[in-house]
Amino acid sequence: MSNASLLILPGDGIGPEVMTEVRKIIDWYGAKRDLQFDVSEDLVGGAAYDKHGTPLHDDTMAKAQEVDAVLLGAVGGPKYDNLDFSVKPERGLLRLRKEMDLFANLRPAQCFDALADFSSLKKDIVAGLDIMIVRELTSGIYFGEPRGIFEEGNERVGINTQRYTESEIDRVARSAFELARRRGNKVCSMEKANVMESGILWREVVQKVHDEDYPDVELSHMYADAGAMQLCRYPKQFDVIVTDNLFGDILSDAAAMLTGSLGMLPSASLGAPMANGRPKALYEPVHGSAPDIAGQGKANPIACILSFAMALRYSFDQGDEAARLEAAIETVLADGARTADLMGPEGGTPMSTTDMGDAIIAALDASL
Ligand code: IPM
Ligand code: MG
Repeated sequence: MSNASLLILPGDGIGPEVMTEVRKIIDWYGAKRDLQFDVSEDLVGGAAYDKHGTPLHDDTMAKAQEVDAVLLGAVGGPKYDNLDFSVKPERGLLRLRKEMDLFANLRPAQCFDALADFSSLKKDIVAGLDIMIVRELTSGIYFGEPRGIFEEGNERVGINTQRYTESEIDRVARSAFELARRRGNKVCSMEKANVMESGILWREVVQKVHDEDYPDVELSHMYADAGAMQLCRYPKQFDVIVTDNLFGDILSDAAAMLTGSLGMLPSASLGAPMANGRPKALYEPVHGSAPDIAGQGKANPIACILSFAMALRYSFDQGDEAARLEAAIETVLADGARTADLMGPEGGTPMSTTDMGDAIIAALDASL
């Protein structure tokens, strides 16, 4: 592998703490597996606002465009709640997604055996669960125009616009079908074609891409509300779910919770291939900045570490090493390693963020 470049953006809240553990893992791969990464670090979100008055400096944006992969911790916190909308921490993340054109957001919801008891659903409904939500990430109501708060007569009106072009639907559908072929070969597409024209177009285009190029993949369509219900009722019916930006945001939080803890779930946001063949990519945990526990060493670093595993797989063609890291995490969980978010009702003493990172390193050592 040619030296790979990684830009690390720890961000706010628990972001920096969990990223410290990821850096230990990256160093381990350099020392023990000879995978060398050129790592640089920069600010995003509230941390960037504090220093530069903007949640993403132009220089950082330019760096993100150049590297092979960006690894992001989390953004946001109560300190920034009253900032003007245009400089809120979240705008930094949305700018990265949009300008890097990261249209396919992969959000796996996988239930680790050792944690099946933590789900709010019955154990047999979630044990062995392994679904992949592919969320369209650069269009739809998050970015559509017109948008804003306007005066209309003697009151104000808030407007956002759901907008999808055929090509935007086409490319994310292809991502979903490609992934499905490497998994359970099933795609369920979710929209609201019963009430939204954009949903009608979505359904048509997904079906067309399927019929023309992926007839071997099993395709079904579901209204997104029914999809939410089915996710809670019998989630194992799904393999890959493909859906728009807003439905994907909501459905992926629901799917995440099926697995027991938001502290476990990684994500990959992928764009078109760059000149070196690697996709433009940003990896981040699904959880947020958790300001209530920030700085206390309580955060679970696993989601962020699993995000690095996704980087190994999708950016660096190191699927075996990604599997090694995932297996190390399975091992420590099976051995009873638990951060505070993974403590059951029976209680006990949770381990710290650092101790969890060290336990995973020890399991990696043992895997050699
Ligand atoms: C997510 C988050 C973001 C989103 C926020 C932080 C902008 O909820 O990644 O799911 O809404 O996309
Ligand atoms: Mg969300």
